[in-house]
Amino acid sequence: MHSVTRSLTRHSCRRTPCSSATLFVRHNHTQPTPNSNNSRTTHFGFQTIPEEQKETMVKGVFNSVASSYDVMNDAMSMGVHRLWKDDFVSTLKPGRKGPIRCIDLAGGTGDIALRILDHAREQYADRETTVDVVDINAEMLKEGYKRFKKTMYHNTPQISFIESNAQALPEETFPSNTYDLYTIAFGIRNCTSVPDVLKEAYRVLKPGGTFACLEFSKVNNPLLSMMYDQYSFSVIPIMGSILAGDRDSYQYLVESIRKFPGQPDFAQMIRDAGFSTGEMHEGRGGAWRDLWGGIASIHTGVKL
Ligand SMILES: C[S@@+](CC[C@H](N)C(=O)[O-])C[C@H]1O[C@@H](n2cnc3c(N)ncnc32)[C@H](O)[C@@H]1O
Repeated sequence: MHSVTRSLTRHSCRRTPCSSATLFVRHNHTQPTPNSNNSRTTHFGFQTIPEEQKETMVKGVFNSVASSYDVMNDAMSMGVHRLWKDDFVSTLKPGRKGPIRCIDLAGGTGDIALRILDHAREQYADRETTVDVVDINAEMLKEGYKRFKKTMYHNTPQISFIESNAQALPEETFPSNTYDLYTIAFGIRNCTSVPDVLKEAYRVLKPGGTFACLEFSKVNNPLLSMMYDQYSFSVIPIMGSILAGDRDSYQYLVESIRKFPGQPDFAQMIRDAGFSTGEMHEGRGGAWRDLWGGIASIHTGVKL
């Protein structure tokens, strides 16, 4: 896999179409720094940690789960994540108005990118829509790359894998006003600063471009919430331990879901970043749409 890791910039690569299909661009990430007494704190699951350590700790989680990530996703959600992702992408209708440029942040193993390209091709015979899959974790991207090798998109300009931080996308690789569609699925809650992610999303989207986020959310029904908590905290870490040999990472994943803001608060953050959303309520014409009673939700916003 390291053979496809190039330290080329996107610009130099795009001049050579045959080599522009898939590349990795390495950027320096924040390195863990020793804690100082006055450093700001954030959460890592239910733990409070110095802000500067979160990125490294999250990377540790996804390094650990990368090779079992897809299998575990199916097992933990009993396949439901596939339905949610199908719903997410088909609602966005990529390709409906002609080929578009998409960026899928925290794209991991490429689940959303594959759906975007399939949707554009199957619904609109579009083979020109492109997706840049961006993730902070090279191990997750490698799994995605392996997967795309088995598809018709491999070695085409339709797909690129790029290692970078959603909070600080380098301007030279991700110029402002570039993309028509920005997606992020089950990724934003892992980022240290959600406002910084939203700021970058706003920057890289073209005016009129769409921001779309699929994320775990807050369940409103008390009975469903209780059952969901039972399942999350009792079953998922045990599954992680049995299927992936990693209880702690899955414990983090369920805890991180509980720490993420509820739907109205997250919708407000999207607005604060400059996006126009629907009305501040759930459902048709609203700023978000709940899936399965709010276990997950889809938030969208448009860059005006
Ligand atoms: C739960 S996975 C989701 C992967 C994929 N979007 C999906 O839905 O299957 C979360 C992903 O977020 C990535 N991630 C975490 N923090 C990130 C950051 N600051 N910038 C970019 N990616 C990040 C992780 O490496 C991981 O691949």
